[in-house]
Amino acid sequence: MDPRSGVSNGSGPGYEKEENNLSPEDLSEMLAAGTKEVHEKAENTQFVKDFLRGRIRKELFKLGAVALYHTYTAMEEEIERNKDHPHFAPLYFPAELHRHEALARDIEYFYGPEWKSQITCSEATQRYVDRIHQVGQEDPVLLVAHAYTRYMGDLSGGQVLRKVAQRALKLPPTGEGLEFYQFDAIHSAKAFKQLYRSRMNELDLDVETKKKLVEEAVKAFHFNMEVFEELEEIGKTIQEDVLDAGMSAHGEMGGDISK
Ligand code: HEM
Repeated sequence: MDPRSGVSNGSGPGYEKEENNLSPEDLSEMLAAGTKEVHEKAENTQFVKDFLRGRIRKELFKLGAVALYHTYTAMEEEIERNKDHPHFAPLYFPAELHRHEALARDIEYFYGPEWKSQITCSEATQRYVDRIHQVGQEDPVLLVAHAYTRYMGDLSGGQVLRKVAQRALKLPPTGEGLEFYQFDAIHSAKAFKQLYRSRMNELDLDVETKKKLVEEAVKAFHFNMEVFEELEEIGKTIQEDVLDAGMSAHGEMGGDISK
């Protein structure tokens, strides 16, 4: 699947109208183009493919939530530290985007009230977390790349993943365990993503910095893939029935994923 086939390379009919007069030097365009290949790789990791098919073991899903909890806790800690930094402030949307509290509630649902003492940070997650703290403290403009990679991705595929997980793991339709996927303060993911892109494009950055941001976003994708690969390896050691409850390729999934 080419998720961003609609993102123009700057030519072709309808470009100006469709893309709001974006130019290839705009950060949002550079990020979309520069991560296209690694996005395809991420989509094609075994863990992600299995997840989309509804082949998720509950223990593994829980460990995935724990990895996300550590990742978002680090990212949002660094975002708070840099919320007034001119290279990040326009992208500061805590009420709309921040996920670590939702993840804490999901994990409490899965592990119970003593969840904090029951979870650990895996090696691959720790490497991702360390990088987030490093950029937040040494080169905060690069936080933009980390926020882009996670939040734009969550807003793009989250609803589909929520449905798949709910069905496969037989979680309550009321949303317990799946709060991470629910952005209550965002009514239109599509409109919010457009706002976020335009805020990224308004940042006062030279082209060298924009290139560094693309490189950092590619790194962020790799950190995510390393976490998926680690989960995949752990999955091989967990004996549990796999429920086949994925969405059909032509059903809900196709219609929903780009919202
Ligand atoms: C965008 C699908 C995995 C990060 C998108 C879009 C789709 C999509 C359809 C386009 C949304 C739009 O143009 O409005 C998928 C599918 C995945 C997947 C099916 C596999 C399950 C990931 C992963 C990440 C990610 C693992 C990173 C951790 C992003 C980002 C965007 C995006 C950053 C925004 C691209 C842009 O417009 O600049 N994805 N995605 N995706 N996805 Fe994914």
